[in-house]
Amino acid sequence: MKLIRSIDELRAQLRGQNRTAFVPTMGNLHEGHLSLVRLARQHGDPVVTSIFVNPLQFGPGEDFERYPRTLDADIEKLQKENVYVVFAPTERDLYPQPQEYRVQPPGGMGDMLEGEFRPGFFQGVCTVVMKLMVCAQPRVAVFGKKDYQQLMIVREMCKQFAMPTDVVAGETIRDCDGLALSSRNRFLTPEERVEAPMLYRLLNQIRDKILSGEKDIQGIERRAFSKLIDRGWQPDYISVRKQADLRSPTAQEVDAGKLVVVAAARLGNTRLIDNLEV
Ligand code: PAJ
Repeated sequence: MKLIRSIDELRAQLRGQNRTAFVPTMGNLHEGHLSLVRLARQHGDPVVTSIFVNPLQFGPGEDFERYPRTLDADIEKLQKENVYVVFAPTERDLYPQPQEYRVQPPGGMGDMLEGEFRPGFFQGVCTVVMKLMVCAQPRVAVFGKKDYQQLMIVREMCKQFAMPTDVVAGETIRDCDGLALSSRNRFLTPEERVEAPMLYRLLNQIRDKILSGEKDIQGIERRAFSKLIDRGWQPDYISVRKQADLRSPTAQEVDAGKLVVVAAARLGNTRLIDNLEV
């Protein structure tokens, strides 16, 4: 396994490869990330992982500074997974000059849900993912369903720019109590860690209600939101959407299935997001 810092070195190392499978990350790797690495191996060779905490996707007051950086432990985990290249540029390697050209996702998809509560987030994500893909030129790139909207936006970006990269989706990996693995879980206090799986339980309750034929989606959403507040959370949204475009379903579309329940909520100082397909 090779640790590479510069774009030039990455290009040299991957020259002639046309089946590269790429897994972009911000590091502090857990089983969720590693499951994507394993999925990548099924779709291409060599497997390349990037580790870069991308300042462009953090807003003012978000956790860019305190985002966990654990490069040595990450490298060790990727070595065990037989990754070919770890691309871990510094900020100056990836952004040698201010990144003035940006990829702006369309309003609608880019401004709803995460985009509403984290303005500029998806522009930052799209810009770095585009740049990393231009550097690695992967045949396939793997993204987790954990970040459902990100996955959809990146997939559409690749399509609309006719990029030669297929986007493959990996399932969300959870702790045994249902909490989706996330680098941010480490910020939870022991008490918050006990409460945290409530979010996933709530998503399951909503799914069960929909499957049992309940039609009042807005009522379901309102009650779930209140429940989170009653339990001490600060929810941003908890909402039933269509998998196809993340818009709210009409009454007929609720019958049609193909829904996803998406949620984001803060517990203390930690913002958790999760979702569940229906
Ligand atoms: P990061 O949060 O490190 O996540 C990297 C990839 O791992 C993403 O595709 C994410 O959806 C996936 N992932 C995270 N938790 C997961 C879990 N519990 N199960 C399965 N997959 C999981 O997402 C980013 O970084 C950044 O926005 C990035 C795409 C790298 C651009 O900077």
